[in-house]
Amino acid sequence: MTQKFYITTPIYYVNDIPHIGHAYCTLATDTIARYWRTKLGAENVHFLTGTDENSQKTVDAAQKNNQEVYAYLDDMAKNWRETWEKIGISFDDFIRTTEERHKNTVNEIFQTIFDNGDIYKGIYKGKYCTGCETFLKDADLDENGHCPAHKKAPQELEEENYFFRLSKYEDILLELFEKNPDFLLPQSRQNEILSFIKSGLEDISVSRETAEFGISLPMDNKHKVYVWFDALLNYISAIKNTNKTDFWDNVHHIIGKDITKFHCVIWPAMLIAAGIKPPQTVYAHGFFTINGTKMSKSLGNVVSPLDLSDKYGNDALRIGLLNSFEFGNDGDFSLDNFTNFYNTKLAGGIGNLFNRVVVLTNKFLDGEKPQAEISEESKTRLTKFSRAFENKKIKEAIGYFFEEMDTANLLLNKTEVWRIAKTDLEKSKPIFGKLIKHLEVIAKMAEVLTPETYPKMLTMLGNKKIGEKNILFTRVET
Ligand code: ME8
Repeated sequence: MTQKFYITTPIYYVNDIPHIGHAYCTLATDTIARYWRTKLGAENVHFLTGTDENSQKTVDAAQKNNQEVYAYLDDMAKNWRETWEKIGISFDDFIRTTEERHKNTVNEIFQTIFDNGDIYKGIYKGKYCTGCETFLKDADLDENGHCPAHKKAPQELEEENYFFRLSKYEDILLELFEKNPDFLLPQSRQNEILSFIKSGLEDISVSRETAEFGISLPMDNKHKVYVWFDALLNYISAIKNTNKTDFWDNVHHIIGKDITKFHCVIWPAMLIAAGIKPPQTVYAHGFFTINGTKMSKSLGNVVSPLDLSDKYGNDALRIGLLNSFEFGNDGDFSLDNFTNFYNTKLAGGIGNLFNRVVVLTNKFLDGEKPQAEISEESKTRLTKFSRAFENKKIKEAIGYFFEEMDTANLLLNKTEVWRIAKTDLEKSKPIFGKLIKHLEVIAKMAEVLTPETYPKMLTMLGNKKIGEKNILFTRVET
């Protein structure tokens, strides 16, 4: 049986429109999905994204917007979906947690865990932050008694809740981490989660009696399912009752580090409680700042992915963001660096190289493409490119793309092939052959890294004869 590869992004909250942080995660996931499609065939890769809609935040946002909740949700889900389509995200499925297929799965799995004895009724007394949709302990609060992420005093709750017996899963989770060293990647994130588990897990509340909106519990319709318990199940509801269920054998969740506990503690415990195999890997990427400052609405420095894509194009947005810092680390994104990268590496680099080789081949060889072998150096680079992707080292892979460009530029400039061609056309042919091979290798990597430029590259490379020159990336003013 061919290997299947199932890759997911977080499903995003729809109380706001997508910003560049969400685009970063979605583009990274998309790029990894595209790599695996080249390797396994498109039919063996399943890429899921979507929207997290059963949240109090949504109800609040709809009210603020003077809209009925479902109308608001439809508008926002459309906005997210269209944003991803506009920036070239090749998702195979887009799930909304207000869909029937999702509600049915949540009901079914909630009931299974309840029947297995791992969900029970009790009283929750404590604090809740709607911003994070999280139950907080005193130790989680800042010096003002506020939620550190949202700088607001949490709600004080005392209500009847259903609890999930997370405490039972301490040793089971530790064993999962021990037996699967790749369960949480990068491995540098494991210590924090392991010490959290070792410090003792408490049962968690998985229903809200006072929630206005959400999925009702199958056994008690006075309660709504806790939004995280509901949201995590999206990964299953999207493929359940389809012909894609075998994709569950190889699941890769890409998330931001902010939601690691949900994905690496609660989620595997829920799955084991329901008799379902946990995912293969949860990859928690880092967060980035904008010009060294945290992105926030109040600071007015929130960048829209659509603005960047309008000005620079989708491929530049993708590769420029992913090249800013290694996937998995924290980093910074600056518009100056981005523009500089765009002009030097894409317009002046890749674009210029393709044009020079195409123009010279047309001029001296009338478009003839001399036979040549791919160099050992390029072969090794393609292997390294694959290995980097298999380890989700996206920036490293991008490095090989530009290394191949540098090798080609060096060959072009060192040989000054246009001079050779003027005096000894035959002698210039093997050099042209090698240059075209380098462009083919670049195009192969571009299929994954700059997918909208890739077909243009293929057109320039032509079939029997080289094609016409074209502008792959237009220079922009800084
Ligand atoms: O947490 N840098 O959704 P969310 C990098 N609905 N990535 C960033 C970022 C930044 N500055 N800001 C946001 C939720 N992100 C839940 C998920 S999944 C079952 C439910 C990315 O809309 C990052 O990937 O708050 C983070 O994990 C995600 O956006 C959070 O999106």
